[in-house]
Amino acid sequence: MSIELITYNPAGLLLPEHGLAEDALANLAPKLQAARDEVLSDAKLWAAGEEVPAEKQPLDAGFHELPDRLLAEYRELGPESEIARIQATADRLAGEVDRVVVLGIGGSYMGARALLEACCHPYYNEVPRAERSGRPRMSFEGNNVDNDAMQGLCDLLGRGREATEVADRWAIVVISKSGGTLETAAAFRILLRQLRASCGDDAAQLAKLVIPVTGTSGKLFDLAGALGCPEMYHVPEGVGGRFSILSAVGLLPAAIMGLDIVKLLEGAAAMNEHFRSAAVGENVVLDYTGACHLIETQRGCDVRLLSTWGKRLEAVGLWYDQLLAESLGKHEQGALPLTIVNTRDLHSRGQQHQEGKRDKVITNVTIGACQREPLAIGRSEHNHDQLNELADKTLPDILDAATRGTNQAYQEDNRPTADLHLPQLDEHVLGQVFQMFMLATVVEGRLIGINPYGQPGVEAYKKNMNAILRT
Ligand code: PA5
Repeated sequence: MSIELITYNPAGLLLPEHGLAEDALANLAPKLQAARDEVLSDAKLWAAGEEVPAEKQPLDAGFHELPDRLLAEYRELGPESEIARIQATADRLAGEVDRVVVLGIGGSYMGARALLEACCHPYYNEVPRAERSGRPRMSFEGNNVDNDAMQGLCDLLGRGREATEVADRWAIVVISKSGGTLETAAAFRILLRQLRASCGDDAAQLAKLVIPVTGTSGKLFDLAGALGCPEMYHVPEGVGGRFSILSAVGLLPAAIMGLDIVKLLEGAAAMNEHFRSAAVGENVVLDYTGACHLIETQRGCDVRLLSTWGKRLEAVGLWYDQLLAESLGKHEQGALPLTIVNTRDLHSRGQQHQEGKRDKVITNVTIGACQREPLAIGRSEHNHDQLNELADKTLPDILDAATRGTNQAYQEDNRPTADLHLPQLDEHVLGQVFQMFMLATVVEGRLIGINPYGQPGVEAYKKNMNAILRT
């Protein structure tokens, strides 16, 4: 089967107008290759279970080979493999409930949301069950501390009313690698009470409707044991939260939504192979990293706009915002990531991108083919809007004109742009995209001497919040 890979073209960025020679990327090639070698040897070091030298710690390099490892295990062990077990849990839940509440925050939530928005029906929770291929609705909580939002969800869940029909029944997937994150834990406790009531206090039934995804020890692990949850999944050792989308953290919610998780992993594995073998100039990961690095260091463009052309990519962009910000925003370094959705944001942020400070590099993310038939404007007897002359134009035609028009305007004003092109939005392509961004983030970390793993800065607020709450 021939695989269509995503492509990256930095032509609108590597220009003398931006202070960059045409061969700037080629000149950076030795450094990019060295950073790639370091990332590959980090992955090997981690896989071999060797002691990690102090200057490398923490080293959560396990995400890199995870897709290949899960796929190999699937081929070898079949129904005993983790992929098959995830699939079986997802299918069981789909038969038993009509809503799954995913509890998690940061890396334990954003990937699942990105997959839902990119690959499922755009009105997934609103359409009838048949149009969701018989899969449950998905809700996300435990990703904030918002009383009224939680109360609203409790309304939707029937406030603990005993549920006998599938249409009223719901389940919880609670995801926390550490198992101790307060936002997620508080939401879990509140909803567990309601779920217990909705099961008529049947402890065995309750246990089957709670699927924890956590580490191999910790508070959530212990609680799951006490509840007697028969199915539990683990965030593998050496896979950091924001790098965990292709573990059970993202795979279980994806399988519940009915997505093909094998294809997702195959996309990521294809990106791994491309990353390892393609040269600078043809390597999506290295070229993206190199071009962003050059424009930042040589022209001061430290605001990285992911300019998505399609609203289904917004949550993918937010997932990437977290990945980049939490990985490289250290030691007073790291570009500022910002996701925008066009054409919506051309009417809000567009002015600033066209005429504001020259501190931005714009990466257009375009999608080759829609999933559905293109809709035409159509002819009307009421031509007051004067659209009859555009009657044959479709929504993709308008989006294409907007994309080209916007980029022409950027070029005319010497605003640096690059293009990341996705052939379509499906699991294989999304697997490539996630792996590409994770690899690019760690390569950039090695290039600029920042450890991309760990997030020591996040601890400060947690420490203060806990101290305030417990005094
Ligand atoms: O990337 C990270 O490690 C973080 O964003 C975590 O995912 C987030 O803080 C949630 O942590 P946990 O899964 O331990 O609840």
